[in-house]
Amino acid sequence: MGIDWPYEFPGVYWVGKEEEEAVLEVLRNGSMFRYYGLKKPFYVDRFEESARNFYGVNYALGLNSGTGALICSLAALGIGPGCEVVIPSFLWVATVGAVVQCGAIPVICEVNDSFNIDPEDLERKITAKTKLIVPVHMAGAPCEMDKIMEIADRHGIPVLEDCAQCNGGSFKGKKVGTFGRMGIFSLQLNKNITCGEGGLIITGDERLYNRAFSAHDMGMIRKNGRLALPDDYAVMWGNGRRMNEMCGAVANVQLSKLPDITGKMHSSKKRIKEMLQDTRGLEFRRLADEAGDSGPFLVIILEDEKTTLAAVEKMKRNGLHNIFRIADYGLHIYFNIPALVNKTPLSPSGNPWNLCANKDSDYDYSKGACPQSDKLFSRSILIPVPSCLTAEQEERAAQIISEAVNF
Ligand SMILES: Cc1ncc(COP(=O)(O)O)c(C=O)c1O
Repeated sequence: MGIDWPYEFPGVYWVGKEEEEAVLEVLRNGSMFRYYGLKKPFYVDRFEESARNFYGVNYALGLNSGTGALICSLAALGIGPGCEVVIPSFLWVATVGAVVQCGAIPVICEVNDSFNIDPEDLERKITAKTKLIVPVHMAGAPCEMDKIMEIADRHGIPVLEDCAQCNGGSFKGKKVGTFGRMGIFSLQLNKNITCGEGGLIITGDERLYNRAFSAHDMGMIRKNGRLALPDDYAVMWGNGRRMNEMCGAVANVQLSKLPDITGKMHSSKKRIKEMLQDTRGLEFRRLADEAGDSGPFLVIILEDEKTTLAAVEKMKRNGLHNIFRIADYGLHIYFNIPALVNKTPLSPSGNPWNLCANKDSDYDYSKGACPQSDKLFSRSILIPVPSCLTAEQEERAAQIISEAVNF
């Protein structure tokens, strides 16, 4: 007997009357734009206030996407031609895209058995041109932030945490996004909480906040919702990345549900892992901090590529339809990103890899560039853990996984 495995939309299963009412209020008030409307809008402001409280930071900025949050953070941090930015081999195309868009050079770092950035390789990847490290807390679980921050601080390099896939996660009791100079989140449909499309930047630094604000809007700051001329350091080129009020309304309600949503995924995952713990030939991803794992994915590592391919086939046939061998997980893997492998220019004369300022940054991005990661990706499987599982679904999933591994 197979299984009807739910889709991986953690926040969606928790949408209720509260989100509905909030969106309707925005529409009835004719105040879909965050700065003015028929009635005074307040939902994005409220979401940002909730975010400051939830993450315990001084500044929070709602945006229209996680990609926008990355682009505006890089702008705030002054990343551009002549800069190298270290990112992991397991990521999302938006992370590397944001680096390339500003004319900087991405440097791909190995991941280790935590499937997050490998601190040992990070140390090796740092050069005199490294101007930023972007740890990406992948597939729900936090990076080894103690080691990463020690290396970054010793070299005096800022850290921007990409927490798009790990909202609500933490490392040793401290929330992800609060270790580096800035943290970004996504509120896209597949994320731990969602408003369909949305993003968030958090920081403790007023100047970075003002620069990010300026970059996300029209290149200026605002006072009481009206454009205002900032000090010179915060005059930027704007990107039109504002969050709208309907998204703010949903995001604000969803943020209040985040601990329950991650708690549910965490406990389902724990139960599935317990049921699988004696399965021969199967290891789990090492979690840098089990308690801080936000829970949306189970990653298993099998003996070799052949067994892994066969196990994926078998699991899919039995209804675990949305699982991936990690090597085949599309634009999450450096060598699957055609624009990166081909060093695709931004415009006919705008290829970051040909810029004079980047002439010493010569990197290859094709398969083989990160052999440790490649080997791991070839024999590991990513299994979503939806936020709405019943005990029977958890049990059946564990059975399907164990049968697929041992056939
Ligand atoms: C690691 C990572 N960073 C950034 C993003 C970009 O977020 P968005 O889709 O909201 O632009 C995503 C979204 O999938 C992601 O997974």
